[in-house]
Amino acid sequence: MTAGSRIVAMGHYQPSRVVTNDDLASTLDTNDAWIRDRVGIAERRVADTESVADMATYAAEKALAASGLTAADIDQVVVATCSAIDRCPNVAARVSARLGIVAPAAYDLNTACSGFGYALATADHAIRAGASRHALVIGAEKLSDVVDWSDRTTAVLFGDAAGAAVVSAVPDGEEAGIGPVLWGSAPDKGDALKIEGWQPYIKQEGQTVFRWATTALAPFAIEVCKRAGVDPSELAAFVPHQANTRIIDGIVKRLGLGPDVIVAKDLVESGNTSAASVPLALSKLIERREVPSGAPVLLFGFGGGLTYAGQVVRCP
Ligand code: UT7
Repeated sequence: MTAGSRIVAMGHYQPSRVVTNDDLASTLDTNDAWIRDRVGIAERRVADTESVADMATYAAEKALAASGLTAADIDQVVVATCSAIDRCPNVAARVSARLGIVAPAAYDLNTACSGFGYALATADHAIRAGASRHALVIGAEKLSDVVDWSDRTTAVLFGDAAGAAVVSAVPDGEEAGIGPVLWGSAPDKGDALKIEGWQPYIKQEGQTVFRWATTALAPFAIEVCKRAGVDPSELAAFVPHQANTRIIDGIVKRLGLGPDVIVAKDLVESGNTSAASVPLALSKLIERREVPSGAPVLLFGFGGGLTYAGQVVRCP
């Protein structure tokens, strides 16, 4: 049995259409200064014809090409998403068919914005149990389909994107590259963020989620590091869910991260892309070669449900 798994390569995809804060201000009672100050977003990408499955496929294709593996090697495909319109076949099956992956365990998983952490843990656990050797783990969202474009309290927040990781069993004698997951939820507050009913829109009690995020989450992020045996001072990078720079800054402060630690703030250019936000931001850090291979990176997702999941991973 393997000692665990590691991320071998990442890839990401964003639609080409950029929507700036000023673009939104032309149809909504909002402005660039409010969005930048209260949230931290300058612009986001919005899909035109691309579906969740299209974006997931493009991101996975890039991760697979960067991994040196082929479709024939992949035996597990998991897609974290809360915005796929079609229920069956699931997105994982559609991605597998498009990439020529013949007989994978193919499943979708919905824990909203913490989805990538849950999917990464599930894939890692399957590999540890001997049920899989090479997995594609994808976070993909087309939130523009479920945003009420006349509601300024949500329309300014979200974007569309996908990020993907190839996760493989570590060879015998080598250390695992994905640390123990800390996952959980606060279901008593679940109604604070909803995408419910037929043809739904995102509804959010922003303040409720904000208060939870800024009070409850930092101790969990610290516990993730403890479980991995990594002191926060040893981290090379922190990649949290990209919802609000004020939430990110608060967690960074309570983790005591110094100026040398890279903190992902991809929301400035991408908005909040829910389950895609963590793999998107991590993939960009890797593409820009900002984090050395093997360095410890804290991933921490949180959001709808209200759910959270985090792990320390070694950068591919
Ligand atoms: O990804 C899932 C997890 N989600 C989160 O982590 C989000 C957590 N929540 C937040 O990040 C923040 O609560 C928001 C960014 C959603 C909202 O920021 P806020 O500082 O909590 O604003 P608020 O809801 O308290 O609203 C303050 C004011 C209100 O006006 P009044 O009542 O003070 O006159 C709002 O009506 O800002 C107004 N407002 C806006 N003004 C301009 C709300 N949205 C906008 C807007 N533009 N887009």
